[in-house]
This record gives sequence, structure tokens and C-alpha cells, in this order.
Amino acid sequence: MKLLLLCLGLTLVCTYSEGEMEVVKNFEPSKIIGKWFTILIATDQKERIEESGTLRIFLDHIDVLKNASLLFNFHRLDNGQCLEVSTACNKTDQDGIYTASYDGQNLVSIADVKYDEYLIILMKNENNFQVILLYGRQPDVRKKIKKKFMEFSDRHGIVEGNIIDMTKVEDPCLQA
Ligand SMILES: *[C@@H]1O[C@H](CO)[C@@H](O)[C@H](O)[C@H]1NC(C)=O
Ligand SMILES: *[C@@H]1O[C@H](CO)[C@@H](O)[C@H](O)[C@H]1NC(C)=O
Repeated sequence: MKLLLLCLGLTLVCTYSEGEMEVVKNFEPSKIIGKWFTILIATDQKERIEESGTLRIFLDHIDVLKNASLLFNFHRLDNGQCLEVSTACNKTDQDGIYTASYDGQNLVSIADVKYDEYLIILMKNENNFQVILLYGRQPDVRKKIKKKFMEFSDRHGIVEGNIIDMTKVEDPCLQA
């Protein structure tokens, strides 16, 4: 009971902790290097994935840096223009879990992956919201993978109305 009260009082600490992050076993960072397409994004703060939202992002490619950080290169619409962003995610002492500084501090976990097909990333932000991303090696993924993603999001309490299909969103950087 004491622990429960502590969690209620410190929701942040209890949800923003590595302990309960789902993560793939035997994650091999070098295998996620390269080109990815953004397929679906789910979040519990919908405005962040609406037009010009900071999480309505198109991933371009992932690199692994010499210091073992992952570098996510992506772009999004900002003030009507294409904005390119790179974010380095530091390794933690738990395989497959990283820290990222984007809209605040985040814990990022590689929740599911098939290296030549898809990648599911779960991001927990210190400001009490989560984001789940589905990336594909091709511009779209099999229905079965999308279904898996929907179930994963549902388990994390994200309703279907808070999921955006990025394959149907016009890419702000493709116009010129
Ligand atoms: C790793 O290198 C990147 C790029 O220089 C940097 O942004 C990041 O903070 C570094 N991480 C660590 C743990 O030193
Ligand atoms: C990564 O590590 C570097 C060096 O310790 C630090 O300056 C940077 O703020 C860290 N970034 C994140 C997102 O944790």
C-alpha cells in the first residue's frame, strides 16, 4: 500500500523507469543501421502527432556512433517548412534501452525488431507521455505487423484514434 501511494504521488518516477520497459532479447545495434520508413506512430498526447506536431516525424536513417550511441536522422514539418533533425540516443547499461533528449528526456527501448523488415520503438517521456513508433525497411509493412503494433499500443493504453498512419501523410521534404 505504501508503495502504491508512493507511485501515485510520484507517477513520473514509476512510469519513467527502465524496469518496466519491454525490450528485445540479444539486441544487435549494428543490424538496425540504414534506411527506414515511418509507418505508424501512436501516442497518448495526440496534439504531438497532429500537423506541425514535434512527433509527427519521418525517419530517414539510423546510424550507430563510435561511442555506441544511436543516431536517429529524421525530418518533419515545422512552420510550413521541411526541418531535418538528428538525435543521439545514449546507451544505458541495459541492452536495447537508450536515453534521448527530445521534447524533454526520454527512455527509448527497442521493443520489437526483425532487422530486414520492421522495428518497433517505445519511448517514455519524463512529461508523462509515451510514443510508440513502427518503422519499415520498405515504404509499407505487412498487415500482420500493423496488427501486432496495434495490439502493442493497446496494451500500453493508447486508443486507435491516437495512432497516425504516416504512409498517408504528405512528406514535407519531398516537394522541391
Ligand atoms: C556520442 O556521440 C554523439 C555525437 O557526437 C553525442 O551527441 C553523444 O552525446 C555521445 N554520447 C556519449 C555517451 O558520449
Ligand atoms: C549523452 O551523453 C553525453 C555525455 O555524457 C551527455 O552530454 C548527453 O547529454 C547525453 N545525452 C542524452 C540524451 O542522454
